[in-house]
Amino acid sequence: MGMNRVIGKDGKLPWHLPADLKNFKDLTMNHVMVMGRKTFESIGRPLPGRVSIVITRTKGWTPPSGNCGFADSINAAIFMFKSMLVVDEIFIIGGAQIYQEAIDKADRMYITLIHQNFSGDTYFPEVDWEEWDLVNRVEGTKDQKNIYDHSFLVFDRKI
Ligand SMILES: NC(=O)c1ccc[n+]([C@@H]2O[C@H](COP(=O)([O-])OP(=O)(O)OC[C@H]3O[C@@H](n4cnc5c(N)ncnc54)[C@H](OP(=O)(O)O)[C@@H]3O)[C@@H](O)[C@H]2O)c1
Repeated sequence: MGMNRVIGKDGKLPWHLPADLKNFKDLTMNHVMVMGRKTFESIGRPLPGRVSIVITRTKGWTPPSGNCGFADSINAAIFMFKSMLVVDEIFIIGGAQIYQEAIDKADRMYITLIHQNFSGDTYFPEVDWEEWDLVNRVEGTKDQKNIYDHSFLVFDRKI
């Protein structure tokens, strides 16, 4: 997200930051990702090496072939996988509606903070930072391909 919590604009990401895409890929590879229907359509396909679960209320919505399924609520999506011992983390990957509904269920947040404001129409929810500990912070490298200052932050929910 940008400093002003913007995460999306016109159905897309407001920035191009390959280092963040790589970080996202490294984190989510071989894991389950839960996302809103609009985010799925923005990505456009199930991402390889991961299970995509799309949350939708649209009757008759059918997932494309590939490692993709759907559920009519976040709880139902989490329930599908929570009891499997092989699943250590389930990633909620947005967008705004899904982040807003899922944030109270999350134990950890991986946030890429881009050090500037963006114009957009979709925002990460307000966070009560008193509930979270910053447990890791890595500064990203700004270069010709990654034109924004950025930091990779990990927050764990206080017990
Ligand atoms: N920077 C980031 O980290 C990031 C991450 C992801 C997405 N984004 C951006 O965020 C934007 C999309 O976010 P968004 O908030 O507009 O949409 P979204 O959260 O991706 O999807 C919203 C859709 O999810 C379904 N949904 C939401 N809550 C539900 C519930 N409780 N039960 C059942 N279905 C539910 C509904 O689908 P139906 O209408 O089919 O019922 C709803 O229209 C895009 O611009 C995208 O690029 C940014």
